Amino acid sequence: MLSAKNIALSFGATPALRGVDFELRSGECVTVVGPSGSGKSTLLFCLAGILTPDRGEVTWQGKPLSRLDDETRAAIRLRDFGIVLQFARLVPELSLLENVMLPLLLTGARRREAARRALHLLERLGVATHADRRPAQVSGGQAQRAAIARAVVHEPTVVFADEPTGALDRQTGDVALRMLFELVEESGSSLVMVTHDERLATRATRVIRLADGRADPTEP
Ligand SMILES: Nc1ncnc2c1ncn2[C@@H]1O[C@H](COP(=O)(O)OP(=O)(O)O)[C@@H](O)[C@H]1O
Ligand SMILES: [Mg+2]
Repeated sequence: MLSAKNIALSFGATPALRGVDFELRSGECVTVVGPSGSGKSTLLFCLAGILTPDRGEVTWQGKPLSRLDDETRAAIRLRDFGIVLQFARLVPELSLLENVMLPLLLTGARRREAARRALHLLERLGVATHADRRPAQVSGGQAQRAAIARAVVHEPTVVFADEPTGALDRQTGDVALRMLFELVEESGSSLVMVTHDERLATRATRVIRLADGRADPTEP
């Protein structure tokens, strides 16, 4: 479904990825682990079509992402992918509800239906009472739950998560993670999750271990 072949990417003189292979099949949950600076985020951004590797190719449903025009790639990202990062990165001018509605509105849903689905998700995530507040008016954990809702509301084929609870305390983070797993499972999405929490690797169907821009060949 989603695969990468020997992808490499440098930032100036700094090699972030030095030739990594990746394969995601439908319904799988792959976690990417490794020390800080090992290239986890860079790999995730390449897979999600946000960064283009210098070498190698990322293929989505048989199509090489880098050879699609920007418009087609943007449409794939909008419709087929959902992404949640370490810090919520919600649109600051919009309410939590409007933030969660965004992926639906951008893919052609009617406003009423979008609002209904977004509110339903916020309810499940326990932040519906703050639906009309802007991100700056809620806690980090509440904003992150809205970010999780935004990443799954359009039932994307793949959800990408880059240390989605890394900025939260342990308890708040664990609750948010449990919800993310639950929602991903329900919508039948696949999940690519970057984490340095080895405990999470146990929930994965597969683990990719990165070290210094390479997949660790000693992985079991
Ligand atoms: N935008 C950037 N500009 C310059 N160097 C970067 C940038 N993003 C990442 N790097 C470098 O690439 C390497 C891999 O980074 P990253 O993928 O963020 O690792 P991780 O997510 O595992 O911590 C690091 O050496 C980092 O400093
Ligand atoms: Mg990172």
